[in-house]
Amino acid sequence: MNLWQDFKTNDKKLIHKWMHYFPIYERHLSCFRNKTTTMVEIGVSKGGSLQMWQRFLGPMATLVGIDIDASCAEHEDDNIFVRIGDQSDKSFLQSVFQEFGTPDIIIDDGSHIMSHIGATFEYFYPRLSKNGIYIVEDLHTAYWEEFEGGVENPETFINKSKSFVDKLNADHARGVIEPDFISKNTFGISFYDSVVVLERGSIPLKKAPMTGHN
Ligand SMILES: C[S@@+](CC[C@H](N)C(=O)[O-])C[C@H]1O[C@@H](n2cnc3c(N)ncnc32)[C@H](O)[C@@H]1O
Repeated sequence: MNLWQDFKTNDKKLIHKWMHYFPIYERHLSCFRNKTTTMVEIGVSKGGSLQMWQRFLGPMATLVGIDIDASCAEHEDDNIFVRIGDQSDKSFLQSVFQEFGTPDIIIDDGSHIMSHIGATFEYFYPRLSKNGIYIVEDLHTAYWEEFEGGVENPETFINKSKSFVDKLNADHARGVIEPDFISKNTFGISFYDSVVVLERGSIPLKKAPMTGHN
């Protein structure tokens, strides 16, 4: 069963996702199925998405939910862990990292406030596994003032991600762009309606050789 069918036929805990997210998940997360994968989802709410991820990723996955609402602790289950804290609190994030180790997948579906998204990303992106996936959802809030958004605001995660595109290409920019962690540890960045996906990875041999003959 694919994830969309799973969502449509869900009769367990409530899941809250936009419909067009399902092809995005399938595209970026299918390679983690039936492996020893650790996923951290920020934003537990009614617990349904953690159950869905467990069905999707399989019995070897460890699911860690983070939420500021203490009542979310009731959604713990076999291999589903919930830790209560604020996603913008780096000492809390550190305690999660120390307990569960290197995550393979991060899904930020928490407060959707720009400074919170930025703090979580700053902490967890460098700590993702080498081929890990970082997904930030509901980024329509990047355009809404009440979430610290704004089209021209350089601090929104959309605008930061646009600048990551330049970092990704820093090696070709003839010294104009200083390479950073994103440049050296990111394979790709994908933009979708309300969603940004970053794929960790590094390219040890950046060459464009020719093969074959005229
Ligand atoms: C959109 S809901 C999560 C939905 C869930 N992932 C799903 O797909 O069904 C957002 C959750 O983020 C939590 N949240 C809000 N602010 C937070 C913060 N600063 N840190 C951690 N969690 C937060 C809320 O309590 C709420 O449960």
